[in-house]
Amino acid sequence: MEKYLREHSSPQSEALEWIEKQTHIRTNHARMLTGPVQGRFLKMTVGAISPERILEIGTFTGYSAVCIASALPAGGHLDTLEINDELEDIIAGGFERAGVADKISLILGDAKDSLKTLRREILDDRTRPPYDMVYIDANKREYPEYYELVFDIVRPGGYILADNVLWDGKVWQSPLPQDRQTLSIARFNDMVASDPRVESVIIPVRDGLNFIRKLQ
Ligand SMILES: C[S@@+](CC[C@H](N)C(=O)[O-])C[C@H]1O[C@@H](n2cnc3c(N)ncnc32)[C@H](O)[C@@H]1O
Repeated sequence: MEKYLREHSSPQSEALEWIEKQTHIRTNHARMLTGPVQGRFLKMTVGAISPERILEIGTFTGYSAVCIASALPAGGHLDTLEINDELEDIIAGGFERAGVADKISLILGDAKDSLKTLRREILDDRTRPPYDMVYIDANKREYPEYYELVFDIVRPGGYILADNVLWDGKVWQSPLPQDRQTLSIARFNDMVASDPRVESVIIPVRDGLNFIRKLQ
């Protein structure tokens, strides 16, 4: 199905092809790439909801960041968080090739630390506005913490999208596999489904995207 979806969706740009290729050549984790189908979905989502300020947690080699940034409205900006500073070269190369380098700030470090700093700047110092959209795609064991850390820095009516929430179908297995990643994603999906402050739907694109809207 993935091949069919790819062949019948708009093709990826030259810059995204470059990132995909570099990711295969220079990393051992190409399966972590968001990929062309979900990348296109992210780009069209940003185009549809027109968020001006977006936060991404988990840059990897910058594939989804480029998809998101290329649909930002004029004046829009993406902050993207990544722990692995060895990826900086590929990330910067992709942003330059895609012509979006001036729309993106890469923040290196542990996402939880970066999120605490962003929370202080947005909620206490008020030196930054809140985000219109957050895309969560970093450490699967930390999804519940990311959700709690980002919730207050998303404006009412804003969106939180979380990737890999089906986790290869492990989240609906019975009994539930007891590894930390499955437990954490299952807990995250339960938290969202029972949170009266949001409306949400899980979309089965690739490994599952939880599409969450913070109510007014
Ligand atoms: C699934 S990949 C992200 C894929 C990316 N969004 C894309 O489209 O190609 C997850 C990324 O999160 C990063 N990551 C894992 N734990 C992190 C943490 N605690 N803080 C920041 N980044 C983290 C990993 O280094 C990895 O690059």
